[in-house]
Amino acid sequence: MRIVLVGPPGAGKGTQAEIISAQLAVPHISTGDIFRANLRQGTELGKSAQSYMDAGDLVPDEVVIAMMRDRLAEPDAATGFLLDGFPRSRPQAQALDGLLTDLGTSLNAVLELRVDTEEVVRRLAVRSAESGRSDDTTETVRRRQEVYAQQTAPLVTHYADQGLLHAVDAVGEVDKVTERIMRALDAEGTGRSCAVLA
Ligand code: AP5
Repeated sequence: MRIVLVGPPGAGKGTQAEIISAQLAVPHISTGDIFRANLRQGTELGKSAQSYMDAGDLVPDEVVIAMMRDRLAEPDAATGFLLDGFPRSRPQAQALDGLLTDLGTSLNAVLELRVDTEEVVRRLAVRSAESGRSDDTTETVRRRQEVYAQQTAPLVTHYADQGLLHAVDAVGEVDKVTERIMRALDAEGTGRSCAVLA
């Protein structure tokens, strides 16, 4: 399975990707996690991403696309993957389409996790207090939400037009959200609706 998870900051992409990738036995590939690992290791990639992440802005497309071209060429991604946080802009989506075409393959499904703004603000405030992630400050969370609305939300249409989109209600207990996602993926074999799964 080749799956993309899309949704605003705090929608639960990382939480769900962790669970679902284990169930499907595919690698969970998170661009945010890759950048944070590079930041911790002090690599050039990490240094180049830091100012964008701290501001809540997207790291430039060319940097992300080059990084993902390398990552998707690794052997563990040959038979499937779950992408969390990529693509996040039209150029990234177009680059992913091209990369997969070159590899002679394509996506199976795009899952849009839907959560209202009030809930994501609440979730990230809790996480900021507990884990201290530096981009969970009130100001940066607001900027990340703006960036999502402006640059990433349009991808929902891109994938709906390709018949790949499944919108999932991502509010409620984590395991209930997982169940909705798995139902959407099960439905993938029979049809490609984009109904919100309640
Ligand atoms: P990234 O790390 O991808 O952050 P994000 O998209 O803002 O997402 P989050 O990690 O904040 O939230 P999530 O949806 O994964 O939710 P989570 O499961 O953690 O990106 C960070 C930065 O890196 C970007 O701002 C950008 O600068 C850069 N970047 C990354 N990818 C890029 C790209 N492709 N292009 C350019 N730049 C890029 O859950 C959030 C919280 O809610 C947790 O505390 C969790 O425990 C809790 N929670 C989860 N599910 C539930 C639930 N059902 N009910 C209650 N609480 C829940």
